[in-house]
Amino acid sequence: ALRAAFVPKAQKRNQRSWNYLQPQASYKVTILGAAGGIGQPLALLVKMSPLVSALHLYDIANVKGVAADLSHCNTPSQVLDFTGASELADSLKGVDVVVIPAGVPRKPGMTRDDLFNINANIVKSLIEAVADNCPDAFIHIISNPVNSTVPIAAEVLKQKGVYDPKKLFGVTTLDVVRANTFVAQKKNLKLIDVDVPVVGGHAGITILPLLSKTKPSVSFTNEEIQELTVRIQNAGTEVVEAKAGAGSATLSMAYAAARFVESSLRALDGDGDVYECTFIQSELTELPFFASRVKIGRKGIEAVISSDLQGLTEYEEKALEALKPELKASIEKGLAFAQKQT
Ligand code: NAI
Repeated sequence: ALRAAFVPKAQKRNQRSWNYLQPQASYKVTILGAAGGIGQPLALLVKMSPLVSALHLYDIANVKGVAADLSHCNTPSQVLDFTGASELADSLKGVDVVVIPAGVPRKPGMTRDDLFNINANIVKSLIEAVADNCPDAFIHIISNPVNSTVPIAAEVLKQKGVYDPKKLFGVTTLDVVRANTFVAQKKNLKLIDVDVPVVGGHAGITILPLLSKTKPSVSFTNEEIQELTVRIQNAGTEVVEAKAGAGSATLSMAYAAARFVESSLRALDGDGDVYECTFIQSELTELPFFASRVKIGRKGIEAVISSDLQGLTEYEEKALEALKPELKASIEKGLAFAQKQT
């Protein structure tokens, strides 16, 4: 009581409102590529989660300082650093969720597919380590091109005999975050209420926001639909161009990835009301992988929400058909890469 008397009132109030200081669960999360543009702010946001007891940061360089820095935040999780291939296995043992933002980002003029050659190899080697050390973990793939890196990861896990399609997720949350933001701005809606499902894939025209399924229900003119759809599809490029050579989206991506991590942890913790859009192995269309809204539970994906693809507008139907050849080619490119390695 004596000590409390010396704590200024405002500070006490602040500490109480930072309720993540109270641990609520004890999950372990590893970030592979944790020293990068996405990795660092993502690590900070995950450090704020009351559901995390251990935060493992892995990178090929520069991760020691990031971990030392983060470890001073007075939130529950313990931060550990792991540098280089020799420490990769230890970073993965016993963890519940692995997030992978390792790889190179785009520069102006590049498509996500231009990253394929470098990132395909990075994802392949990281997933091999995941398969060997934490085959039951949820795996979140951020490294682009997601349309190819998720099929690569699936194939590598299959080759290792540990593939669980319910636990492999391509992170497309940023597309939803952007769609929600742009729609709320355009229609003057309260941001917190807006939810736009985004399906298909995560590159250019394969990103298909289903504006007709926006909640709360809202009507758009044809021009608004065209403008919003194109803006959501090109939002990543908007950032790449604004950063003019210094990389692609990192802060909004970290925010989106943190939301997906938090959703996964809530699902693992037994919350029965967790829904996210994500790029997964899928039977929703004739394509073997497809992003859609899913229900996530303790064992991964519990249900694919097929109703989102029913009753589409003509514009959406056309866009859905138009994206399929490109998405199919990206998936096949990923599968072929992983298969030729064996
Ligand atoms: P960055 O270059 O700032 O960071 C990448 C990090 O990965 C670096 O710290 C690097 O040392 C590390 N790394 C490279 N090879 C590695 C390996 N073998 N093992 C572990 N770490 C390794 O790049 P940034 O901006 O963080 O982007 C990362 C990836 O995320 C890129 O592929 C980018 O295209 C993708 N991205 C995906 C988005 C999505 O919506 N899914 C959105 C934005 C970016």
